Amino acid sequence: MRISERIRYVGMNDLKTQLFEHQWPLPYGVSYNSYLVIGDKIALIDTAAAAYEDIFLSNIKEEIGERKIDYLVVNHMEPDHSALQAVIRKEYPDCTIVTNAKAVPMIEGYQGLSDNIQIIKEGECLSLGNVTLQFFMIPMVHWPETMVTWCPEERTVFSGDAFGSFKAVPEGSLIDGFECFRDEMTRYYASIVGKYGQTVQAALKKVAPLNIERICPTHGPVWEKEISEVVGWYDRLSAAKLERGVCLAYGSMYGNTAKAAKSVAAELEKNRVVCKMHDLCEENLSFALADAFIYDSIILGSPTYNAGVFPPVQAFMDALKARGVKNRRFAAFGSFTWAGTSVKLLNNQAVEMQFEVAHNGLSFAQGYTPEKFDAEEIAKPFI
Ligand SMILES: Cc1cc2nc3c(=O)[nH]c(=O)nc-3n(C[C@H](O)[C@H](O)[C@H](O)COP(=O)(O)O)c2cc1C
Ligand SMILES: [Fe+2]
Ligand SMILES: [Fe+2]
Repeated sequence: MRISERIRYVGMNDLKTQLFEHQWPLPYGVSYNSYLVIGDKIALIDTAAAAYEDIFLSNIKEEIGERKIDYLVVNHMEPDHSALQAVIRKEYPDCTIVTNAKAVPMIEGYQGLSDNIQIIKEGECLSLGNVTLQFFMIPMVHWPETMVTWCPEERTVFSGDAFGSFKAVPEGSLIDGFECFRDEMTRYYASIVGKYGQTVQAALKKVAPLNIERICPTHGPVWEKEISEVVGWYDRLSAAKLERGVCLAYGSMYGNTAKAAKSVAAELEKNRVVCKMHDLCEENLSFALADAFIYDSIILGSPTYNAGVFPPVQAFMDALKARGVKNRRFAAFGSFTWAGTSVKLLNNQAVEMQFEVAHNGLSFAQGYTPEKFDAEEIAKPFI
C-alpha cells in the first residue's frame, strides 16, 4: 500500500489472535505495521509477527518486485515486529541490519543473526542515496533498545510502538481516524506502555523539534492530519493530565457488591459526574485500566475473600501498581459475611500508591440493601 512515492506499507491486519501478548483481548484485531523506504537503495523498517511470513514477503514483492532490500532497520525487538528478521535475511542475503548496540544481542538471541549488522548511534544518518534515515534512541518506550527512525525528506517518523494502537487498520486507507482509534489506543497505551510515562515524555521532547508531518507507528493507522490530536493524547496519558471522572471497577461472586457498584454509579450519574463502570469478572482488566489512565478518581468494589481482596479486584489493583498509577482520588466498598477486610486492605494499598483516600469506604454484611449501603455517602466526595 502506498503511503507516498517513497514510503510503502507492507504490514498486515491480524483478526485471528484473541489475546495480544496472550493477555489483552483484541475485539477489533490489531495490525503489525512495517514500511519500506524506497530510494536509490531500499530500507525495510521493522518486520512483523511470526504467523505472517507469506503475506509479508508477498506485500514486499508487490511494492519492489525483484529489487533487493539493502537495509533492515530494527527499531524494536519485541517479537511482534522482529519475528521475520531471519526470513528477510534468507530472502535478501546481502541486506544489512541497521540498529543500535542494545538490540544486537537481542537479534542474536531471538533470530540467531549476528553478521552484517551496522551499529548506529544517537542522531546518526544512513543515506539511501536520494533519501536519508536518521536514528534517535527512545529507551524504555517500552524496551531498552527502542529507537525511532526519522526520514527528513518525507518529514516522517517511524515511531515503533509509540503512537500505536490496537484495532486493525481499514484496508486500502490507513491514514488517520483518531476518534475511532482513541479508545483502543488508550487501552494499548495503558496495557503495554503505561508503566513508562516518564520515558514517553522524554521521547516526546526529543522528537518535538523535528517538525513531523507523518507518524508511521508499528500498530494502528498512519497519522498525518491528526498528528496534533495523537501527540496531544499521548502527552496527556503519559503526563497523567487527568480528566474529572470516576473509573468504577468491581468484582462480585453473588451479585451483592455488584448491586452496590450500580447504586454508586447511579448516584454519580445523577450528579452528572462521568462514571465508567467495569465488571472485572466479565471483562479483561485492560478496559478498566484505560479509564484509570484517563480519569482522576478510582472507586473499587470488592467482597472479602479468604480474609483478603477478591482476586479479580486485587489483580486490577496490582496492574495499577505495576504501572505506577498514582495521585488518584480513591474509595472502596464491598460485601462480606463474617469479618470484612477488603475495604481496609484496599485503602492501605491506595495510601501506599499515593492515592488520596477521599472516603474511608463502606462495607456491608451479607446481602445488599439500600438501607445497609449508603451510595450517596460514598459518592459524595466525588461529586
Ligand atoms: C471462597 C470464599 C471466601 C470467602 N472469604 C470470606 C472472608 O474471609 N471473610 C468474610 O467475611 N467473608 C468471606 N466470604 C463471603 C463473601 O465475602 C460474601 O459471600 C459476600 O457477600 C460476597 O459478595 P458478592 O455477592 O458481591 O460476591 C467468602 C466467600 C467465598 C466464596
Ligand atoms: Fe513492543
Ligand atoms: Fe508492538
